Amino acid sequence: MRLVRLIANLGYGSRREVAMMFREGRITDADGEVLYADDKREHHEIRFDGEPLDPPAGLCLMLNKPLGVTCSARDVGRLVYELLPERFSLRNPALSTVGRLDRETSGLLLFTDDGALLHRIISPKSSVAKVYEAELAEDLRGDEAALFASGTLTLESEQTPLLPAGLEPLGPRRARLTLHEGRYHQARRMFAAAGNHVIGLHRVSVGGLSLQGLGIGEWRLVELTEMQTVFSRGSAA
Ligand code: URA
Repeated sequence: MRLVRLIANLGYGSRREVAMMFREGRITDADGEVLYADDKREHHEIRFDGEPLDPPAGLCLMLNKPLGVTCSARDVGRLVYELLPERFSLRNPALSTVGRLDRETSGLLLFTDDGALLHRIISPKSSVAKVYEAELAEDLRGDEAALFASGTLTLESEQTPLLPAGLEPLGPRRARLTLHEGRYHQARRMFAAAGNHVIGLHRVSVGGLSLQGLGIGEWRLVELTEMQTVFSRGSAA
């Protein structure tokens, strides 16, 4: 791939802007030698303003999503993409969230530009465990674990019952919920079906991946091999 296209696809600028950046001498090799637009170099050999390029296509990352931020590329209010470097929104292939968290849900949110990987993670067939901690308005009744595990609970305005889900009480009004699918507002609607109301929701893990000390609003790259631990059965919580 020509270098102008390679660098433009990473979101550093339009092809015209990147061509200008070459003329300005901002693109060099690892020894600081200025590169020209028709030079041939491997991705890892290129520097932009002296820094290694962002990873090529196949990018995966995780964000500890704060409350009040929307999982959308275009919406009113603050967007999750605003917490990442601006050029990540301009990449081709585009970076997408792996499923969504509600604006008022915090915690582990994955991103990738690998469409096949994304679909594999969110497909209920993969049975990836998504673990949430929920804070509730009312005391647990005691029958929620059996109800959620039954595989017969059907949410309002839906036809298909939910897959069995796990519930572990963490206190009178706190619980850990493990889901294997991702329906609209699923956790909130499940607790509503059990006569309760979620007042706080935080995702702690997706398969074998957890936040591991990542602060609220912080993000980090996830290697493709590490991303595969999403499909490992063990709990990371
Ligand atoms: N369930 C919800 O209700 N909201 C989320 O953000 C995730 C799961």
